[in-house]
Amino acid sequence: MSNKKSLDKSIRAILVKRLTAAYVIISALIIILVLIFQLFDISELANEQAVESVGRFNAQVMNILDEPTTMNSENLQKELELFRKYHTHHKFGNFIYGSIFNLNGEELAHFADKNVDIEYQQNHLDNFFEKHRITQASDIHNIRFEGLIPYIYIGLPMKDSNGNFAARTEGVYQISAEGWKIIFFRILRALIIAFLILLITTIAVYPVISRLIQRLSRLTGNLLESNLETLKVLGSAVSKRDSDTDAHNYRVTIIAVRLAKQLGLSDDEIRSIIKGSFLHDVGKIGIRDNILLKPGKLTDDEYEIMKSHVTHGVEVIENSDWLTDAKDIVGYHHEKFDGSGYGHGLKGEQIPIRARIFAIADVFDALTSKRPYKEALTYTETMEILEAGRGSHFDPEILDGFNFISKNIFDNVSQRFDDNLKKELSELISCYFSNEITEKL
Ligand SMILES: [Fe+2]
Repeated sequence: MSNKKSLDKSIRAILVKRLTAAYVIISALIIILVLIFQLFDISELANEQAVESVGRFNAQVMNILDEPTTMNSENLQKELELFRKYHTHHKFGNFIYGSIFNLNGEELAHFADKNVDIEYQQNHLDNFFEKHRITQASDIHNIRFEGLIPYIYIGLPMKDSNGNFAARTEGVYQISAEGWKIIFFRILRALIIAFLILLITTIAVYPVISRLIQRLSRLTGNLLESNLETLKVLGSAVSKRDSDTDAHNYRVTIIAVRLAKQLGLSDDEIRSIIKGSFLHDVGKIGIRDNILLKPGKLTDDEYEIMKSHVTHGVEVIENSDWLTDAKDIVGYHHEKFDGSGYGHGLKGEQIPIRARIFAIADVFDALTSKRPYKEALTYTETMEILEAGRGSHFDPEILDGFNFISKNIFDNVSQRFDDNLKKELSELISCYFSNEITEKL
């Protein structure tokens, strides 16, 4: 029953899968964070450039702003055009639209790039600055997206040479193609650095986690093997009392698992069926030899004592948390579908499905096995007896399922107790119980 290697392999596969998933999720978060930070950066950078432009224009028109008589539309418009002639190209971006207002909110000068939809931007600008005009003297900047293109709306005060608030500029700043190139390379650099740090961390952490997983899987594997050995030891102990081998336990477990698979039961159910089938008669440990080993027919009183092996069995397995789910078979494997069985006298679907499955496997193996007091029955004879018990002893639906696989079981499992059969059960156990550990990780 060695399954440590396959367990170790499955756990490693899970580790790689989880680390990859973590890498992808963290990478996605990094991309989002980098984009958010870059957006703030773009806005800041555009604002800096805009402040610088307005500052330069402010210096150019300072003498006009100083004198109320010269601060008129004609002078400012002329100065604005002159300024634009010599200062239009900035590396990062430019104002594409702008206006200069006096302190009464009247527009004194304005400009617009050729490609700008003036009416559209004017409406947007008015809507935006209308809400902020109350804080005329302060800087305002706000990034707004038209589709995927960001526009930075900027409002800045202009001052005279005494530092007094004299006029105000409002405009829309757009990032140039060159600016986008700068942004692209900044984002790319930030992402490459972040991914490299993440990759190095993942690679550095992997051996540490791997070693811990190795230890964990070794301990878990040991624990699983101990539990499976308990199962085997208890099953063997009871078999030794009334027969020489564990053959019936092995075969009946294989048959019950095959039937459960045929009926589409879950892996959890099948694990319980393995434990229950292997230990179904463990309660016989509590039956005295003179009854258990009596060659002839039991008296009524002896039979009553014999029946108590189901309750003894439940008491035995209840001592182990790992074995308690075997209770459905250990405690109910002598129930009959019409309620005439013993244990609790349950009928129909009151009987746990695991016990209804096991009942068919148990009787099929008993009938097809040679015993000191009888020969093995043929396939046809066996199936006739099972059919006779349809609806009385056996659940008809489960018997229907068994009919699909019974011939194959008769040909390949019945009467066998060779190494290949033992190997088949070991592999079945390894597969289902190793899966259980990896499923719960
Ligand atoms: Fe039994």
